[in-house]
Amino acid sequence: MSFDLSVFSNKNILLAVTGGIAAYKSAILVRRLKDYGFNVRVVMTHGAQAFITPLTFQALSGNPVHTELLNPEAEAGMGHIELARWADLLLVAPASCDTLAKFAAGLADDLLSTLYLATKAPVWVAPAMNQQMWAAKATQRNLNTLVEDGVHVIMPDAGSQACGDVGLGRMPEPEHLADQVKDYFHQAQRAIAEKFGLLAGKRVTITAGPTREAIDPVRYISNHSTGKMGFAIAAACYSAGAKVTLLAGPVSLDTPNGVKRINVSSALKMLDESMKQLEEGCDIFIATAAVADYRVAEVAEHKIKKAGDELNVALIKNPDIVATIAQQKKRPFMVGFAAETRHVEEYAAGKLVAKKLDMIACNDVSRTDIGFASDQNAMTVFFAEQYQMEKRDLEKASKQEIAQQLIEAIHDALHHEIEPV
Ligand code: C5P
Repeated sequence: MSFDLSVFSNKNILLAVTGGIAAYKSAILVRRLKDYGFNVRVVMTHGAQAFITPLTFQALSGNPVHTELLNPEAEAGMGHIELARWADLLLVAPASCDTLAKFAAGLADDLLSTLYLATKAPVWVAPAMNQQMWAAKATQRNLNTLVEDGVHVIMPDAGSQACGDVGLGRMPEPEHLADQVKDYFHQAQRAIAEKFGLLAGKRVTITAGPTREAIDPVRYISNHSTGKMGFAIAAACYSAGAKVTLLAGPVSLDTPNGVKRINVSSALKMLDESMKQLEEGCDIFIATAAVADYRVAEVAEHKIKKAGDELNVALIKNPDIVATIAQQKKRPFMVGFAAETRHVEEYAAGKLVAKKLDMIACNDVSRTDIGFASDQNAMTVFFAEQYQMEKRDLEKASKQEIAQQLIEAIHDALHHEIEPV
């Protein structure tokens, strides 16, 4: 599943590294967190510096490393209170016995223990230690206290340890820790979007990409649609709090995070799946697919053999998916697209009425700088007459930005009082 790496660029992870051989894994952890787009600052205890140098973390995090509580120079940069406020998550990995004990007792005699008391951010600890030290009554007592205090404890793995022992106490692999952090922020963002997003709680179905109409078992008719616009809209709808199903024709794009994807090939299959979505419940239907207008009347059962200078293949019209859905009794809010090379607005306005849509977004595909395979687009949006809403010009921008503006247009129309027609 792909992930939009920019989504965490406003999230700050304060990674605290304490004394233990697992500190070397924390270097990789910084890399993985940075890969996900997080801002990372590193705090090191004196014990940690016996295992790995601050310079390593400075180079990997791109930020100075914090080691001292009462160092005037360090406090002049980002002081401990500022650092505690900066953090959206305090992640202690590895967390030594000593650190757990300090946290449990509420000591504040070094930078990390002070940060622990001074931060409002959630605190996660990933204990790593010798299995006997993990099992020690004092350690378990301290862990219980921390859990009661609201600290999230990431359980250590079992296995062979650097000291030669075998048992519980290994820090989980850095990739696994980074994934847990990513999932935590992702779920938190999702919960907010589902409550407050522009499409909070809406069920959206989107058709995207081309369709493929078989001629025989090895050949087909299709078009150059890449599906990029539809996929960008699916991602934006999900970020806006919607439950999204993407009916995708054959395209080579990753499924946007959180989106349910159903792959289809022909127009008939796309219609079939669209009707199923309608039955399951759909509030908004967005048709971005470049559906083949015609399909082969009779698909050959076997590969057609070369013969003669001419080959005629009879075509019959495909159903219009968006128009069919718009005719249903319990119809969703219908959004169509129109790609034209001339009389763009006139043709689009005609389709809005003919297909009984609520909204249509049209673009001029004669322009070579936008549309089809491009990463950019520009559009004009029209609303059905009963909305009495002015058309909107969406200036040339990335398909992601255009998708966002389309969602705003849908949201505005859904909240607009409709004039009876
Ligand atoms: O008529 P035209 O193909 O230009 O209309 C484009 C709009 O109609 C798009 O929203 C497209 O996804 C939709 N459409 C459809 N089924 C078809 C043809 C077009 O849903 N068979």
